[in-house]
Amino acid sequence: MKTILVTGGSGFIGSHVVRLFVNKYSDYKIVNLDALTYAGNLENVSDLENQNNYVFEKGDITDLEFIRSLFTKYNFDGVIHLAAESHVDRSIKDPLVFARVNVMGTGTLLQVAKESWKENFEGKLFYHVSTDEVYGSLGDEGFFYEDTAYDPRSPYSASKAASDHLVRAFNHTYGFPIVISNCSNNYGPNQFPEKLIPLFINNIVLEKPLPVYGKGVNVRDWLYVVDHARAIDVIFHKGKVGETYNIGGHNEWRNIDLIKEMCAQLDEKLNREKGSAEKLITYVTDRAGHDHRYAIDATKIEKDLGWKPSLQFKEGLGKTIDWYLANKEWLKNVTSGEYQNYYAKMYEKVDG
Ligand code: NAD
Ligand code: TYD
Repeated sequence: MKTILVTGGSGFIGSHVVRLFVNKYSDYKIVNLDALTYAGNLENVSDLENQNNYVFEKGDITDLEFIRSLFTKYNFDGVIHLAAESHVDRSIKDPLVFARVNVMGTGTLLQVAKESWKENFEGKLFYHVSTDEVYGSLGDEGFFYEDTAYDPRSPYSASKAASDHLVRAFNHTYGFPIVISNCSNNYGPNQFPEKLIPLFINNIVLEKPLPVYGKGVNVRDWLYVVDHARAIDVIFHKGKVGETYNIGGHNEWRNIDLIKEMCAQLDEKLNREKGSAEKLITYVTDRAGHDHRYAIDATKIEKDLGWKPSLQFKEGLGKTIDWYLANKEWLKNVTSGEYQNYYAKMYEKVDG
């Protein structure tokens, strides 16, 4: 029996990781630690509540004494660390929250895990889940490799880069057992509707404007969230301690092309006239410091660990849209209250 701490397990990616591990490994106890911020939602894992190898703990990764008490209570064998502030636009408005949660929170977990494992690192692993955004911004050519120099350019990516450095420093300095993965943009069910894909699905359903930043020519490399969870499973079990793995879908889209694909699929699924969703496209002031292009070279994880994405993008997008259309109550719940105020503040800059 192994006891594994998953942080951020009520968020978007974390909920898919927790589900995969709880259902696949009946001999693991999975402890989901989450502060339930605006992005954390217990509804995301409500199907697991009655599983006897699953426990939820509410708490903050920056709270040193609380994290110590949790390690004492459960004596964890491994950590899969996903809890973070994760939205670039929020980091532009409030960078210090990102420094506190992403840097200090990761440092707190590392320090307590090191204390708890008392230098006996045999069979232990601290898996840090990171992003391709730490590598900076690409021109129209080239890819991010595991040894691409870090060049973070938003407060979000800077805070994730700092956390990656801390994780590697623990490995280098103390021989602390770590593994890191840097993944491209995820999409799929349960993503909070502030990120591009769920925000635009929701706006199309409600016939609200689709705020495209700048000219819509920025490029992202999209991966279905369940494929990311599968990659985390493979790396956690087969990855080499101390290594970094890039995860991506070889699936680059210019924002405007992706948005038009979403519009076309939604017109059809909602039985609306062809072209009606596209009429909602509204070009707005560009994001400050907007990274032009992200693209992952995922050869290492494919070759060394045999992982590959399972879904083609148009199919994955279709499944995602279907999930949002079938889960209107979920959307309504997460878009009320605090989120509405934030939304109003973010989009008062709409150009018209
Ligand atoms: P998310 O914002 O949906 O979820 C984050 C979760 O962390 C939420 O449940 C939230 O309540 C929790 N959390 C936040 N602050 C906390 C704190 N102080 N203590 C405890 N819990 C806290 O994020 P996501 O998109 O699921 O991303 C998860 C991880 O994957 C992050 O580390 C992110 O950097 C990384 N990542 C995300 C993407 C992506 O496209 N979304 C891509 C690559 C890597
Ligand atoms: P996002 O989902 O925020 O992910 P990230 O910035 O981490 O890549 O944004 C994806 C792309 O979509 C990015 O180029 C910014 C753009 N975008 C818009 O054009 N309009 C929006 O309302 C949002 C949220 C994003």
